[in-house]
Amino acid sequence: MACSDLSQAIVFYVSSVIVIQFNIMCKKIIRFIAFASISLLLSRHFASAQNLIPSKSQMPVGAYYYPEHWNENQWERDLKRMAELGFEFTHFAEFAWAKLEPSEGKFDFAWLDKNVELAHKYGLKVIMCTPSATPPVWLTQKHPEILIKQESGFYVKHGMRLNCNISHPAYQRYIKRIVEKMTARYGHHPAVVGWQIDNEPHFEGLYDYSDFAQKEFRKWLQAKYKTIDKLNEAWGASFWSFSYNNFNQIFIPNKNEKAANQHAVVDFKRYNADALAAGIRFQAGILRANISEKQWITTNFAYYKFLPSVDLFRSRGDLDFASHTMYLLSTYLNTDKGEMAYRLGSGMELSFSTEMAKSIEGQTGIMELQPGQINWGQWNAQPLPGAVRMWIWHTFGLGDKFVCTYRFRQPLFGSEQFHKGIMETDGVTVSPGGKEYVQAINEIKNLPNIENPREPDDVKSRRTAFLWKQDNLFDLEEVKVNNSWDTYQHYYVYYQKLKSMGCPVTFIQENDVFDVAKYPYMVAPAYEMVDLALIAKLKKYVSEGGNLVLTVRSGMKDNNGHLWETLLQQPVWDLIGAKVDFFDQLPPSKTSSIKIDNHNYKWNVWADILQPKPGTEVLAVHDDNFYTGRAAATLCKHGNGNVMYVGFHSTDGEAEEVLLRKFYQQNNTKILDLPDYVFVEWRDGYWVAVNYSSQTVVLPTINSSNFYIGTSALNPGGVSVWY
Ligand code: GAL
Repeated sequence: MACSDLSQAIVFYVSSVIVIQFNIMCKKIIRFIAFASISLLLSRHFASAQNLIPSKSQMPVGAYYYPEHWNENQWERDLKRMAELGFEFTHFAEFAWAKLEPSEGKFDFAWLDKNVELAHKYGLKVIMCTPSATPPVWLTQKHPEILIKQESGFYVKHGMRLNCNISHPAYQRYIKRIVEKMTARYGHHPAVVGWQIDNEPHFEGLYDYSDFAQKEFRKWLQAKYKTIDKLNEAWGASFWSFSYNNFNQIFIPNKNEKAANQHAVVDFKRYNADALAAGIRFQAGILRANISEKQWITTNFAYYKFLPSVDLFRSRGDLDFASHTMYLLSTYLNTDKGEMAYRLGSGMELSFSTEMAKSIEGQTGIMELQPGQINWGQWNAQPLPGAVRMWIWHTFGLGDKFVCTYRFRQPLFGSEQFHKGIMETDGVTVSPGGKEYVQAINEIKNLPNIENPREPDDVKSRRTAFLWKQDNLFDLEEVKVNNSWDTYQHYYVYYQKLKSMGCPVTFIQENDVFDVAKYPYMVAPAYEMVDLALIAKLKKYVSEGGNLVLTVRSGMKDNNGHLWETLLQQPVWDLIGAKVDFFDQLPPSKTSSIKIDNHNYKWNVWADILQPKPGTEVLAVHDDNFYTGRAAATLCKHGNGNVMYVGFHSTDGEAEEVLLRKFYQQNNTKILDLPDYVFVEWRDGYWVAVNYSSQTVVLPTINSSNFYIGTSALNPGGVSVWY
């Protein structure tokens, strides 16, 4: 290279570096400004969300009301009555689009205006909703392309809810218009405290297989993988000639076809969860731009396992808080085995749902809580007298900032005809569940004041983080490896046992800070897909004094869902202090034994056969099969902390409970010893105990004489509150 060329090259190089540095600096500044303004925006809204429903009560209670179902001359009577009974807010309009915009561009707000004013007159606050769950018929007839196509190829029609894809741009144009019309009227109304987006957002029928979804899925894949080679690699497409030459060849994997490419299916689930969250974000943006800073934004999530695209964490940062819904007697939930369980419901899932929703932004409220008997379970038992009150107190103990019941009046028509309300079908008689609401409202209102409550040290010391990654759930449910494997069941064993030890649980994600002071314990059941950075982060958490529980399948795969090109789970061997030699599974008719301290416990679904490293303690051994005597659970120290690896899923969770108790007790952490489905929570200075089991229980270690409700003996459906 000639000298002048060289100097030119140097000048070029130096100026390029300057330009690049300048660009980087500009980008950093832009990013900083964007970050600062987003934080400012969020913090402004977060501040306004601190006091979700202004009230003298520590947990105000509200009720859904559908003016569109009732004769105009009953509106005032109903809202007045609602307020007289002690309800402090109501909830309007999530299914009222057809009434608000009966034909395209023709709006009718008079009826809603009147109801908002009536609520205001009687001192009821209002939660206003965007009506995107139920588009009017003219809209879907004009734009049939927004309708959801089921896997069978059948397009759902008008006449059901959640029948459109909230991400479709044609649909979003109409959503934007109706939401802006609503915010123009109610976005600064003093009675309106906040907004609910949509209703339990999910795709009715699980997924959309429409042409639109097809195109969006391809776009999502292209953004994720950039090149088709990368996709082929991540999808293991060399297997059975599944490979693609370009993105346009990719179709939504068909779940009904046997052995569809599992990696494609998992990506389709990820895409759906992202698309759903984007649809919620879209509406949050419209609201944010148009409503008062005093009003908050939420949606009423149903986390249930049968709605796989619902991932609350994907909406983190988009909402002021996540609210949640719970129908404890719906028969689809996990209950105790006791004979009264069908009347008491799933306290465990109420707890799980609350603690998950609370984990998203640090606070939550329950937007729908069953008022009594419902109509859509497989069978619909009456709640045990007292159970409705117990549910309300349980949500109080768990920290819900408000409770809203679904619904004030029992409908006379429509698909929820036999669904109880606070009022009976005559509209004027308070139902049995309604009476329990009134009782709980008064009890909560009259709680003695507690100045500056301080979280007791015992409670603080057993705070537990539950490491959550929805993508693991997607993969584990897709690749069960065993017909008996049920991922939620595995999670629930740990969750239920943590609650029986009185642990407050916070769900956290990989990118959260693993703060030992905040969470001295962490459980990560079946945490299957990991990368090496996460393993290092977990090891650091443990070395700093954290106590980590990992279980079967943990660390088995990379984030593409591929097995590591190592021996089984080898990337976590050092962390758990043991080698996982192999795992075993049994036919449904067989069980095998493991032994802990001379007691035998049964397993059937999954068990690992472990080889502990020197220095690792063996906590459980196999007591059966050709691997009798081999380790099934281990304990390993790193720095100041411990890792327990539970290499089995037992038939009834008892063995897991024994190990968890030991794990907490080895650090002298004071845990409670509660029977399953008996819960004790501490909130703002009050202790709340509830009993979903079918036996009377005597609460352990209560040395308080300040019982506000009940005593230390709790009947099924019973509540005790003390301070
Ligand atoms: C909920 C739903 C409500 C209502 C309710 C009936 O899941 O969000 O709109 O249908 O069930 O129990």
